Amino acid sequence: MPTVPNTDQAAQPAETIQPLPDFADRLVRWQRHDGRHDLPWQVRDPYRVWLSEIMLQQTQVVTVLDYFARFTARFPTVQALAAAPEDEVLAAWSGLGYYRRARHLHRCAQIVVEAHGGAFPQTAESLATLPGIGPSTAAAIAAFCFDERAAILDGNVQRVLCRSHGIDDPVPSTATTRKLWSLARRLLPEAPDIAAYTQGLMDLGATLCKPRRPTCATCPFVEDCRARRSGDPQRLPVRQPTRKTRPERSTVMLWLRNPSGGLNWLEKRPQQGVWPGLWSLPQFDATEQALQFAARFGRVIGHQELATFRHAFTHFELTILPLRVDLQVQPGVSEPQGQWFDLGEATQLGLPAPVRSLLMRPMSATDAPPPSVLRG
Ligand code: ADE
Repeated sequence: MPTVPNTDQAAQPAETIQPLPDFADRLVRWQRHDGRHDLPWQVRDPYRVWLSEIMLQQTQVVTVLDYFARFTARFPTVQALAAAPEDEVLAAWSGLGYYRRARHLHRCAQIVVEAHGGAFPQTAESLATLPGIGPSTAAAIAAFCFDERAAILDGNVQRVLCRSHGIDDPVPSTATTRKLWSLARRLLPEAPDIAAYTQGLMDLGATLCKPRRPTCATCPFVEDCRARRSGDPQRLPVRQPTRKTRPERSTVMLWLRNPSGGLNWLEKRPQQGVWPGLWSLPQFDATEQALQFAARFGRVIGHQELATFRHAFTHFELTILPLRVDLQVQPGVSEPQGQWFDLGEATQLGLPAPVRSLLMRPMSATDAPPPSVLRG
């Protein structure tokens, strides 16, 4: 099977890439007929469109549907979101990950209320000045809500453009990104079609032009997609080789329980660093330190190292050794950074995803605290 040739075109500057004929028209027609029309954020309300775009930045539609419904029920307007305590916003976001997004979201809502009288700015350029809104998200909001002819370029759109236009420069790279932005702008339709066009690019990338095994047969560009013509559409985009593997770190996570009260010790993380502002289990470099910390609270009844697991952050991989310690708490002992919560309360907090799954793990017989403690 022939592979995508390293065509001269790919090495040419963006301006010389020949757009596929009627690209926008064909995409708009396809979107209107075969695209997605029933997503709850397909409305012209900038608050809902903005919220969905932020949620969708790193999360799939199926997951976002649930969060979006709960979030908008809890915070029906940008004013309600702006006025909410940060803890509540983080709790509603809990599980979506990338908590900086939630904090930016909250800050953005406050700016919209305080500096813009509660109305989102109406151009991509001004939207992009708000926290958490990059150029592509700003363009999507402006296109969906205000019919602005603004180009989007998220990961899915990069794939659609690279394949349809046979661009085999490595992605991501500054030069390729510049080239793709330029092409994305040149392909834009006239204003009345911009919302359907923008949604069409997203829909095509998500439903047909998928990273693996694209469904070319029903694609509006099946006849002239340059990657398909080359015989191996999946080869594009060409991935820039990853620079290096992420550094590894490890931590002991202390799950301190006071079984007689069914309580768990959680600490609020600082605003800097990973999981800013979330409630989490205290962390230590070594088991010994964790046990010493536990002993401050009372008499340790027993402890157990649970199976380690890994969690990937953007810049490093963390191996977590959960250490569960049951103790008889001495009344009146506390630490300023933390609090005891029962499991029901804990699940209402903003918790990092691995901490949430650790606390929610069904308890096996060997996990259960000693019967004497349960009776106590
Ligand atoms: N991904 C990013 N934005 C989206 C949207 N508005 N609809 C569906 N998927 C998306």
